[in-house]
Amino acid sequence: MWMFSLQRRYLHFSLCLMKKLKGKTPAEQRWLRRQLKDPYVKASQVQNFRCRSAFKLLEIDDKFRLLQPGYTVVDCGAAPGAWSQVAVQRVNSGVTDPELPRGMVVGIDLLNIPPLDGAHFLSNCDVTDPATHAKLLELLPHGKAHVILSDMAPNASGFREMDHEKLITMCLSLIDLAEKILQPQGSLLCKYWDGILAHKLQETLSSVFSSVRTLKPDSSRKDSAERYFLARMYRRPIK
Ligand SMILES: C[S@@+](CC[C@H](N)C(=O)[O-])C[C@H]1O[C@@H](n2cnc3c(N)ncnc32)[C@H](O)[C@@H]1O
Repeated sequence: MWMFSLQRRYLHFSLCLMKKLKGKTPAEQRWLRRQLKDPYVKASQVQNFRCRSAFKLLEIDDKFRLLQPGYTVVDCGAAPGAWSQVAVQRVNSGVTDPELPRGMVVGIDLLNIPPLDGAHFLSNCDVTDPATHAKLLELLPHGKAHVILSDMAPNASGFREMDHEKLITMCLSLIDLAEKILQPQGSLLCKYWDGILAHKLQETLSSVFSSVRTLKPDSSRKDSAERYFLARMYRRPIK
């Protein structure tokens, strides 16, 4: 009996897959197959996260307790909003627990970010643009944040070195942002793609943060060059 039910489920799954793959290019088919097999994609649907990246931040935060109730968080490259969903829960900006202090989450992206209770979004804004920094300064309590998160990524050109350099430049711009808005002792978590300039970014971070470590969460795909720097205990640069 169970064998019959298993065969039926397999047949149903294969038919659905064939329907979804119809009319797609080989690259789209590969992407779709990978998505359908990915346990984090399934879990994000079950837990109502906007995308699988939520699990990377959950994993990092479970280990390092970066996001505390009452904290102010700036989420750079926030669309579609999964990291902001995690941040809203962890800093209590949606006041799910009235006993705990209320935090604040501000997300920024070049794209539109669909609204989310407990978060302020600056859609269609460039994180590297001083005009965006000015908007942030107005929004943040006393113009300061406890944590800057960045899962920003440029559109991949397919040229690995070029994409790596572009993302490193974007990460370096976060250090200018930190100088304007990050509290002393604050933290910065930023994604980069590994490559020759990673050490330069690490060195620059180490010049203004007392602790910098490299992270590769289990939920980050093994075959991807994606890594994160977690920089803690910010100290303002001496000029
Ligand atoms: C991997 S996605 C982020 C996913 C997000 N962390 C989440 O959990 O939903 C990278 C995002 O970075 C954004 N991005 C790239 N360059 C940016 C920039 N200069 N300013 C703001 N956002 C940027 C892209 O538009 C894209 O939405």
